[in-house]
Amino acid sequence: MTQQQTAGGDVRLTGISKTYGSFTAVHPLDLTVPQGSFFALLGASGCGKTTTLRMIAGLEEATTGTVSLGGRDITDLPPYKRPVNTVFQSYALFPHLDITENVAFGLRRRGVKSVKKQVDDMLELVQLGDFARRKPHQLSGGQQQRVAVARALINHPQVLLLDEPLGALDLKLRRRMQLELKRIQTEVGITFVHVTHDQEEAMTMADTVAVMNGGRVEQLGAPADLYENPRTTFVANFLGTSNLIEGQVVPSGSDLVVSAGGGTLTLPRERCSAPAADGGRILLGIRPEKISLAHADDAHTIADGRNRVTGRVVDSSFIGVSTQYVVESPAGKALQVYEQNIERDTRLVPGAEVVLHWNPAHSFGLDADQDIDAGAASVEDAA
Ligand SMILES: Nc1ncnc2c1ncn2[C@@H]1O[C@H](COP(=O)(O)OP(=O)(O)OP(=O)(O)O)[C@@H](O)[C@H]1O
Ligand SMILES: [Mg+2]
Repeated sequence: MTQQQTAGGDVRLTGISKTYGSFTAVHPLDLTVPQGSFFALLGASGCGKTTTLRMIAGLEEATTGTVSLGGRDITDLPPYKRPVNTVFQSYALFPHLDITENVAFGLRRRGVKSVKKQVDDMLELVQLGDFARRKPHQLSGGQQQRVAVARALINHPQVLLLDEPLGALDLKLRRRMQLELKRIQTEVGITFVHVTHDQEEAMTMADTVAVMNGGRVEQLGAPADLYENPRTTFVANFLGTSNLIEGQVVPSGSDLVVSAGGGTLTLPRERCSAPAADGGRILLGIRPEKISLAHADDAHTIADGRNRVTGRVVDSSFIGVSTQYVVESPAGKALQVYEQNIERDTRLVPGAEVVLHWNPAHSFGLDADQDIDAGAASVEDAA
């Protein structure tokens, strides 16, 4: 692995913002992208991802703030003087030039005479060596996309910006290209800043994900960290699915005890990102795959110390690797439960009385003064 993690080439955004008239597309933002990392900006349509990327590229003038690269302030540099290249959703290859000449374009423009070796190396990197003499229209979407990446990388940028580069591809090809791009990034060790509205894409590819909402970064972290420890309802709902149960904090010892739907649930204090005063409202979150489902007749077999909610199955869908249940309960109208398909309990059909149970340590606590559905609709919009 050639990846370098020295601080020398970090991209640093300081108080950067963008307003169009009275509309703020990006609120003042502080962000550091470590050199050599794969960084994703994730968020729903219109949240300010492209605007942020364009400010890094110099294609958009920032209203306030600065952009620096490796400690050098590049805020006032024109785009072509920044050691940064961008790959857009529409690859905009030159249709009349073959693949070699498309990739060689940046070198030729800078007056480089012998391009063959570098172009060959690039085509090998993106595994298109056999396609050198074809025209863009003779390639598939994924192949064209790789040409676009090669064309940008041949300029040896310090940072490659990718704005929804896989948006035009069908799902299967998209998944393959995600792995391919990740491989290329690891091989060249260049910083990638990747914009996407697809949470799965961001999680598969990136070392660090910044979740944006309404022109702000709501939370930033490694994919697993964001998924396991969401701090807002938006992040909890936008990144995968979360059950959010509203309850009241009851006075207790070390762990928080939350009363909800006529029962009580345990929430480790360190798993709670909200101020949790006794008597105050709180949202207890639990991911669908962390919940086990027992038929009510088997309730006595559930181990002590687990959180329990009783309810009734209202819907179940068998999707091969798992079965997804919707359970109605006093604690929540439509709790989602994903059961891995190992041994299916045939009694778990709509109408069945069930007990949902989980390890309290998998619960997370959120401030109840938020829209409980924030981020949930955006996922459907993006699909
Ligand atoms: N030139 C402009 N003038 C006015 N408003 C603009 C301009 N460009 C962008 N906006 C607004 O700024 C907001 C952020 O736009 P941006 O393109 O950054 O969103 P995005 O997160 O990239 O969305 P998408 O996923 O749809 O590409 C949007 O509400 C958009 O309408
Ligand atoms: Mg965009």
